Amino acid sequence: MKVLVIGSGGREHTLCWKLSQDRRVKKIYCVSGNAGISQIAECVDIKIGQPDYFGQLAKLVTREKIDLTLVGPEIPLAEGITDYFKKLGLSIFGPTKDCALLEGSKIFAKEFMRRHNIPTPEFEIFNNVQEAINYLKSKKPPFVIKADGLATGKGVIICKTVEEGIEAIKKIMEDKIFGEAGNKIIIDEFQAGEEVSILAWADGKTVLPMVSSQDHKSIFDGDKGPNTGGMGAYSPAPVITNELMARIQNEILTPTIQGLAEEGREYVGVIYSGLIIVSGKPLVLEYNCRFGDPETQVVLPRLKTDLTTIIEACFKGRLSDINIEWDERATLCVVLASAGYPDDYKKGLEIFGLEDAQRLEDTIVFHAGTTRKDNKILTAGGRVVGVTAYGDSIKQAKEKAYLSCGKIDFEGIYYRQDIGYRALEKLGRRGGRE
Ligand code: GLY
Repeated sequence: MKVLVIGSGGREHTLCWKLSQDRRVKKIYCVSGNAGISQIAECVDIKIGQPDYFGQLAKLVTREKIDLTLVGPEIPLAEGITDYFKKLGLSIFGPTKDCALLEGSKIFAKEFMRRHNIPTPEFEIFNNVQEAINYLKSKKPPFVIKADGLATGKGVIICKTVEEGIEAIKKIMEDKIFGEAGNKIIIDEFQAGEEVSILAWADGKTVLPMVSSQDHKSIFDGDKGPNTGGMGAYSPAPVITNELMARIQNEILTPTIQGLAEEGREYVGVIYSGLIIVSGKPLVLEYNCRFGDPETQVVLPRLKTDLTTIIEACFKGRLSDINIEWDERATLCVVLASAGYPDDYKKGLEIFGLEDAQRLEDTIVFHAGTTRKDNKILTAGGRVVGVTAYGDSIKQAKEKAYLSCGKIDFEGIYYRQDIGYRALEKLGRRGGRE
């Protein structure tokens, strides 16, 4: 079987790595890939978002007789690549455009949750600046202000005062810092709690959660500073007990897939629920219509079952018939970033020590923003590599991951030192498996 992965980050390297161990996969292609992916897949340079990129991808699939396409990032899904491929009779794993709206429009997602009684923070929708400001003035901070459309993960601003809120509304709706995505906004009731990511497989009627994980979105230790694409993750998230997972299944996952089906939207693919746990109750902050990044770098290394087995079951509507197996060990991933990220940063800096890092036991180095030139591996993005390690506990996975991070170097290398801190605090208090 030949498989194409669309995307070029750490998530896509992880997908290619997992496919490279799949008994049925004989060849992997990646558009456009990175230096790490190029070691296990044939990388093809087609720019996502350029005119006719769907057509170019379909031509590649037809020419190379590729059997299956997996989509990493949200943009092709929101733009309808699944619908396009399906019309041509090409096999692709990812939701159709009408389902991907759950990520593409936060207003659609919130109204959908309201219609189906899926727990989410209270909210109001605005398409007028003054009305949004008047509403804000009638409420107590903090506020959560969200652009409606896709904004590369940056479309949510948390404001501690009314003044900050007014500034955020103006920046989004008048200055258009997120472009057309900010034509409408949502103001969500702020909720204090612990965030957790639940990725799940869906076949249109059945939805099966993967192991839990937790992202670290802020750039600095202690969750300080601006949001990034994600600076590290670990799995499992100890905040998710068996009881809570049962509630998530019954109150969120099943009603979401059934609610979509009732509305004529058959969701086949990976659905990511970004949750906040408030006094033991799970609330949905957002949905994503794809694998998370960096969550994938800790979740897929724990998956023992072949990806193609699960995907085939999703296509056939037979997820409920298969038994998905997971590694009991914990995983933890630390993202190594370029100085300046998430703002401006340099590219083209040589990366040293990747092989030494990879050689350590129970460690995998997933490339994100890397490129190969003249036999050297250079930085090519803000998030450069993610180092994932396994451990019998999160504490052990953390020790191994950081040992491996210490082998890697490039000018301006930056990474958080505290990945996993919430889990370790919680387990410390509970006296549980650290
Ligand atoms: N880790 C956040 C995301 O994938 O959107």
